[in-house]
Amino acid sequence: MSKLAINGGAVSITPEKIEAEKNIFVWPIYTDEDKAALLSVTEQFKMSGIDITKQFEREYADWIGAKYALGYCNGTASLHAAMWACGVGAGDEIICPSMTYWASCTAALSLGAAVNFADVDPETLCIDPNDIEHRIGPKTRAIVVVHYAGYPADMDKIMKIARRHGVKVIEDASHSHGSLYKGRQTGTLGDIAGMSMMTAKAFAIGEAGLMTTDNQELFERCVSYGHYERTGIGSRAKTEDQSVTDPELLKFAGIPLGGRKDRMNQWCAAVGRVQLKYYPERIVEIDNAMNYLCDRLDGIDGLKGHRPAVGSGLTKGGWYFPLCHYDPAKFGGVSAARFSEAVCAEGIASCRSGANSPLHVHPVFHEADIFHMGKPTMISFGQRDVRQGPGTLPVAEGLAERIIHLPRFVKFDRAVIDSYVEVFRKVAENIDELK
Ligand SMILES: Cc1ncc(COP(=O)(O)O)c(C=O)c1O
Repeated sequence: MSKLAINGGAVSITPEKIEAEKNIFVWPIYTDEDKAALLSVTEQFKMSGIDITKQFEREYADWIGAKYALGYCNGTASLHAAMWACGVGAGDEIICPSMTYWASCTAALSLGAAVNFADVDPETLCIDPNDIEHRIGPKTRAIVVVHYAGYPADMDKIMKIARRHGVKVIEDASHSHGSLYKGRQTGTLGDIAGMSMMTAKAFAIGEAGLMTTDNQELFERCVSYGHYERTGIGSRAKTEDQSVTDPELLKFAGIPLGGRKDRMNQWCAAVGRVQLKYYPERIVEIDNAMNYLCDRLDGIDGLKGHRPAVGSGLTKGGWYFPLCHYDPAKFGGVSAARFSEAVCAEGIASCRSGANSPLHVHPVFHEADIFHMGKPTMISFGQRDVRQGPGTLPVAEGLAERIIHLPRFVKFDRAVIDSYVEVFRKVAENIDELK
C-alpha cells in the first residue's frame, strides 16, 4: 500500500492543521499601527507629498548604514535610475547574473545598453565571481549583483574585480533586506543599490522601491533622473526639498532627465516607517526559525538548506524566497519537480521546484527591437554581440533540477517546524514510490 499522499496515502498536513497554524506563516505582519499610518496619510491627502517619504528614507538609510536613500514607486524604477546614474547608456554593457528576476537588468535595454549574462554559483545562487572578469570590455559600465533569495553575494571578490576595471557595482537588494555580509548590510556594499519593497518581499510595504548609496554624485543623478520635485526650481519649490547641488544637473532642474516620475507614494512610506520599527526583531525570529528548519533538513541525505554557514558573518535577513538544494542522485534520479509535487500533495502547497528561469536564453535578450531600429536592441548600439544561447551558462540552466522551495516560517515554533520536516523525510524515505 502506498504511503505517499500523491499516490493515495494519507495527507500529512491536513487543512485543519494548516488553519490552526496559519499565523506562523502570515507575512507581512500588519497591525493597527500600520492601519493608523495609512489612515493618517489618507485623511491628510498626502499621498503625493514627500515629507513622510523623506523621513522613511532617512530612517532606512540610518538602519542599513547608507548616507543616502531615495524612495521609488517600485524596485524596477530604482534599478533603472541606478543604471543611468552609473553612466549606462547607448552602446554600453552591463554584467548581470542570468538567474534573477528580469528587473535586475532590463533597464539596460531601455537605455540602449546590452546585457552580458554571467553564470551563478551553485551554492550561493548569486553571480559567480569567477565568471565576471573575462566579460568586462571597454564598454562595460556596471556589474549588477543580486543577493539571491537573501544570500549575500561574494562582494569582496566582486568589488576587487570592479575596482580593477573602473566598473560600478549595482546591488539589487530586492531579496535581501537586512541580510548581512561580514557584519555589513547588503545595499551598502557596492556603489549603489536598488531594491523592491513590494508586497511579496521580506520588507513589504505595498508597491514601492528604494535606492541607497554613499555617493552624493550618484544620489543627485538619481534625483535628477526621476524625482523632478526635488531638483528645486520654480515658485513652488521648497528649499528643504532641493537635493541637487551639481550645477551640471541643476541647469535641468524642474524636468526629470529620465522623463520619469519615480517617487514613492506616501501610503507606502508611512507603512514603511512602521514596518521598519519592527523589522529588525521580526527577522531575528525568522532567522532562528529558518535556520532550525535548515538544520533539520540538512539531516536528510540529498537535501541542504540554501544558506550561509551559521557564524560566518553572513545572514539571510528576512529569508525571502527560502530554498533548498536538491541532489537527484541521492533520490534515485527522481526529479526535483516530482519530489516537490509529492511534498505539495502532503499539504505543503508552497513546495515547487526551480528558481527564476535563466534570462540569457529569453527572446527579449536575443530578438526584441525596443528602439524600432529593425534589429535587436542587444546589438543595435554596441560594438560586440554578447548574446548567449542555450548551453553557455550551465549552472543557471540546470538549477530547475536542483532547487526546491521551502515554507517560510515567520514564527519559531519547534513542534510545527518538526512536523513539516517530517513531510520531507516521508517523501525521501518513500522515494521508490516516485520512480
Ligand atoms: C531580484 C529582483 N529585482 C528587482 C525586482 C523588481 O522590483 P519591483 O517588483 O518592486 O519593481 C524584483 C521583484 O519583484 C526582484 O525580485
